[in-house]
Amino acid sequence: MRLHVLGSGAGGGFPQWNCNCHNCDGLRKGTIRATARTQSSITVTGDNENWVLFNASPDILTQFQQFPELQPARALRDTAVKAIVLIDGQIDHTTGLYMLREHRQPHEIWCTPPVQEDLTQGNPLFRLLGHYCGVNWNALPIDESVFEMKHVPNLRFHAHHLRSNAPPYSPRRDKPVPGDNIGVTIEDTKTGRKIYYAPGLVDIEPHVWAAMQAADVVLVDGTFWTDDEMIALGASKKYARDMGHLPQTGENGMMAWLDKLPKTTRKILIHINNTNPILNEDSAQRRELESRGIEVAYDGMDITV
Ligand code: MLT
Ligand code: MN
Ligand code: ZN
Repeated sequence: MRLHVLGSGAGGGFPQWNCNCHNCDGLRKGTIRATARTQSSITVTGDNENWVLFNASPDILTQFQQFPELQPARALRDTAVKAIVLIDGQIDHTTGLYMLREHRQPHEIWCTPPVQEDLTQGNPLFRLLGHYCGVNWNALPIDESVFEMKHVPNLRFHAHHLRSNAPPYSPRRDKPVPGDNIGVTIEDTKTGRKIYYAPGLVDIEPHVWAAMQAADVVLVDGTFWTDDEMIALGASKKYARDMGHLPQTGENGMMAWLDKLPKTTRKILIHINNTNPILNEDSAQRRELESRGIEVAYDGMDITV
């Protein structure tokens, strides 16, 4: 199977339009070595022809332009995207659906019931799309039961709940329910190889750890380096963990967990916030990741598993 990173940044992207943190300002002025990143999305194929999109980022049109394989041009109006999985209902993962409203048929969308509810009520995106192409909602199971998608050969999927947070606009903010955030294992049915994708999680629960251990490649929450990153900058009063993101450092931080995976597992951080020092390619923090064999996802990263 093949995975392409369309957007490796967290909400806001990098640089963020109104941000003048060391990274954002440094990238604009060319005073640090770093690469711009669009907001959080990946796409996966099992046959190099039919693709599943994971998340619809606000930057989706630029991302599609950067990756022409999603546009095979077999008909006047056409797409290689056969299904769309929404990992949560956050703005950075859903807003791109507005930009796909010209589709000739309803989008095949896979998300959990709480996410479907948020996208029908708090942010009535699905209802609005009903006036354009429409949405065919597929309830995404979070009990690890295997599911397959129509017109997506050679791939199967299973998913589970993750501890994180519901979107700020959701009535369940700070009191999330199972299904507000998920992790997904994507399996190549021909080779048995697996990718685990979880861009937002705060706790490596036993079922999460089991999925990480079973995968050949893990693409996991790389939002923040420290728990107090936003507080220390004066950018927010919230800890990374309050926002539903496990920081890389600290006791039981993401690096400590990734260190425990086998050497053969490819370990990649994704959904990286613009404040995270790992975005600066000359930083000590980036060196530290490199010494541990942990990669930092970038837009355009292409992985064949
Ligand atoms: C998050 O995952 O917490 C988001 O990136 C927040 C956002 O979309 O602004
Ligand atoms: Mn996000
Ligand atoms: Zn910034």
